[in-house]
Amino acid sequence: MLQENHMNPWSIFWRQGHSTTFGDYFKQGYEGAVADWWQSRADKLAVDAAVLEVGCGNCSLLPALNRSGFSGRYIGLDLASVEISAVAKEGLAESEIEVILHPETPAENIPEADASIDVVASVFGIEYSDLTKSLPEVLRVLKTGGRLTALLHHAGSVVTAMSRRAMSEYDADDLAAVIDCLTVISTARDKTPSLADMKANPEAEKARTSINAFAEKYLRDTNLETANATMFEFMSNALKFFKMMGSSSEERRTFISSLADEHRASHERFRQMVAVAFDDDSIERLKVKLGQLGFSATSANVIHTNNQILAWELCTEK
Ligand SMILES: C[S@@+](CC[C@H](N)C(=O)[O-])C[C@H]1O[C@@H](n2cnc3c(N)ncnc32)[C@H](O)[C@@H]1O
Repeated sequence: MLQENHMNPWSIFWRQGHSTTFGDYFKQGYEGAVADWWQSRADKLAVDAAVLEVGCGNCSLLPALNRSGFSGRYIGLDLASVEISAVAKEGLAESEIEVILHPETPAENIPEADASIDVVASVFGIEYSDLTKSLPEVLRVLKTGGRLTALLHHAGSVVTAMSRRAMSEYDADDLAAVIDCLTVISTARDKTPSLADMKANPEAEKARTSINAFAEKYLRDTNLETANATMFEFMSNALKFFKMMGSSSEERRTFISSLADEHRASHERFRQMVAVAFDDDSIERLKVKLGQLGFSATSANVIHTNNQILAWELCTEK
């Protein structure tokens, strides 16, 4: 049995180079409603402003800032191990933007000076932190008159619905069984110099038959509406193992542990996305909390994409 993975589930995602949480869906950085929201904010920024993105991932708001001709300071902060995505790096060296990145840094303890930031921005980021600690930190680093502008997960959003579906589709026992079978086959391969002799190993044959049954269970239905997309993706990736029978023992072991880590981490990310979403009551409580902390002019509006709820748009001022 493989060890449970304890690496930050977001670090596992960001090291794959994604430019946003939505991975391949937004290869060139945010488009659509999120891009429109951020553009409307970026247009109001002084060119030399200091912008802090909280829960920035691989600098999700930097590409649009760069494209808009901004020449101030962009500071990205995230608890996970993050970097500047390739998309965010495009043209950056020729721009006048100063970029500072704080990876593996909690929003509950922001390493920036008091009253030094014009805008704290966040897209599906700050709500993952402990808001009782991160909001006072945001207040501390903002200049007087500075703003916190954020898109927050909405409990009724299309993103939350997608995350709920992924959670319900995930089958931890089947995933563990497939990983165990791959490990049995890999171990048998280590002891069998000739690939042709693998069929003579009863344990490996039993494991292969079992994997075939899981493939039949999860890959038969290819209808996007009815298929178990989460386990479909896992099984498709798991079957790639059989192309590695000529690879080294270490390469096979690394493949199996990465497969397990990435799919378990993905499940944990979806769990978090659902857990941090705000419904009507909790967003009202957040507004009250912001007022108590000393923020003013707070608003929280629902924004949509394709006639579906996308997020809460929060805006508040120091
Ligand atoms: C849904 S992702 C959003 C990333 C990025 N803003 C985007 O839209 O692509 C949430 C991010 O919040 C980060 N995060 C979670 N808890 C945090 C904390 N306490 N402090 C700072 N960042 C945190 C995660 O590591 C993750 O990268």
